[in-house]
Amino acid sequence: MFDENMCKIIVVTGTPGTGKTSVARKVAERLKCRVIGLSEFALRKNLVSRYIEHLGSYDIEPEKMKKALEEECKPEELILIEGHVVDVIPAEYVELAIVLRLNPLELEKRLKERGYSEEKILVNVQSEILDSCLIDAIANFGKEKVFELDTTGKDLEKVVNEVLYIIKERKDYRPGQVDWLDFLEEKSLLNKYMR
Ligand SMILES: Nc1ncnc2c1ncn2[C@@H]1O[C@H](COP(=O)(O)OP(=O)(O)OP(=O)(O)O)[C@@H](O)[C@H]1O
Ligand SMILES: [Mg+2]
Repeated sequence: MFDENMCKIIVVTGTPGTGKTSVARKVAERLKCRVIGLSEFALRKNLVSRYIEHLGSYDIEPEKMKKALEEECKPEELILIEGHVVDVIPAEYVELAIVLRLNPLELEKRLKERGYSEEKILVNVQSEILDSCLIDAIANFGKEKVFELDTTGKDLEKVVNEVLYIIKERKDYRPGQVDWLDFLEEKSLLNKYMR
């Protein structure tokens, strides 16, 4: 049950490759708080049923995961949670969720550098174009708690500073500013990712 003295969770989410792990680790250092990476946590706690190859992510049982995360929460502790699946996070403890966005052309480059297969790249780039992580975050935590940060062309330090600003100020960066469909249409690149 919800306990107001329980921990407070800040979520960093986004499509694979947008920089969640890099950003969350630096932000946690600056805030002197713990960071939990969802995939690593689920593996460590044995909550993974299978690896979904084309998505590049693990299938995690939401209820078990929520319970394990709740057990992890200490009263009044601030915890940063980073991962691209948010329906496994106990929403009542979430203070805010920041969705990292990245231009699809940049994301494609990053995922290629990682050696991902063409299918895995396409699935992830498409989900970035279609705002999947943003929609999931809003569906799970409500629009008021969700912030959207376009990281395109910003180095890690800049992104970290903007995340810290959002956490501190809780303003600006409202969802709905990023529109990759519009961007791709303007550049006549829509067909590149639609099939
Ligand atoms: N702001 C940035 N500018 C340039 N490169 C970055 C930036 N942030 C992260 N990267 C690089 O992008 C790659 C992906 O970053 P990272 O692993 O943090 O992403 P992720 O969102 O955690 O991915 P996954 O969901 O697969 O775990 C890494 O090589 C990282 O060094
Ligand atoms: Mg990561």
